[in-house]
Amino acid sequence: MEPEAEKLMAQSFEKNAIDKSEYPRTADIENRCVNIIADLWHAPKDEAFMGTSTIGSSEACMLGGMAMKFNWRKNAQKHGLDINAKKPNLVISSGYQVCWEKFCVYWDVELRTVPMDADHLSLDLNHVMDYVDDYTIGIVGILGITYSGRYDDIAGLDRLVEAHNQKTNFPVYIHVDAASGGFYTPFMEANLKWDFRLKNVISINASGHKYGLVYPGVGWVLWRDKQFLPEELVFKVSYLGGELPTMAINFSHSASQLIGQYYNFIRYGYQGYKAIHTRTHEVAQYLTHALEETALFDIVNDGAQLPVICYSQKPDNQHEWTLYDLSDRLLMKAGKYLPIRCLMISRRPWCNGSLFGRISG
Ligand SMILES: Cc1ncc(COP(=O)(O)O)c(C=O)c1O
Repeated sequence: MEPEAEKLMAQSFEKNAIDKSEYPRTADIENRCVNIIADLWHAPKDEAFMGTSTIGSSEACMLGGMAMKFNWRKNAQKHGLDINAKKPNLVISSGYQVCWEKFCVYWDVELRTVPMDADHLSLDLNHVMDYVDDYTIGIVGILGITYSGRYDDIAGLDRLVEAHNQKTNFPVYIHVDAASGGFYTPFMEANLKWDFRLKNVISINASGHKYGLVYPGVGWVLWRDKQFLPEELVFKVSYLGGELPTMAINFSHSASQLIGQYYNFIRYGYQGYKAIHTRTHEVAQYLTHALEETALFDIVNDGAQLPVICYSQKPDNQHEWTLYDLSDRLLMKAGKYLPIRCLMISRRPWCNGSLFGRISG
């Protein structure tokens, strides 16, 4: 992050973000960030979005999952389904991040995974609806699978869900785990529909500390309308003599990350984020090309969307080393010279100061 951002963050280490009456400006800044993100993710104007900051996507996913579970239960009771007959379930591709497994263990939900294979390196739309039944609390689409960088086809999923919901009393909705893509895709593929433009996407999470470009830990979760965030999950805290809703799981934490997120939003703006991500995208393209040229690897994901390159060693290669050896060598080099990720450092031509970002970390 920029030195000015670091300074501002350091000046707010001691401020407790949850103490909204002591630090009303922090509460205001958090709300402004929620508004900015709602706009970025196309929250419909005729619905009342709600959202909160979290410590990261893991907490945000827990909240998204809990809201879906509470809503499912209410609807199930309304339609006379025996909610004790079996566990509610959550449907997701097997490329899920571990926070979803945690969610299912903590909140007693069955994790139903749609298998991925070499032909389906993201959610398999041919089979996903086979996993859905009356006990399904929701389907999670992933915008940026942690291990490969691939996107699930959220628009395709929305069409399937819409067709399903037309003929049942037990509709399912989509939560998008956009931990990585949430602050990348809107700048790089603005026309790709994955967010609240899709009718059945009811909640989205993203990590501020990934492509939101803030130091860890900050995340965000938003619901397209307050009807999708059950009242039981919203607690009222006193706020300057009034009351302010809070729905995060964690309580005390420093305000620094919120200050950092707001700084980045204002400092970079849409064009700034786009410029940084474009640069990173170009680096990813360069690396993919360079890896291909070695003729040693099969590219699994070429970084055309998220700048994540995933590759395997060609089975026929005769070299007496494996990808573990390569990884080891890169780590050695990283210690001695520069981390590989220094290639991701952006030039920031829109800044008045130095043309080059600083190498940190
Ligand atoms: C798809 C996905 N979901 C959730 C998470 C958890 O994010 P966080 O580290 O912000 O809690 C990650 C982190 O890599 C992720 O890739």
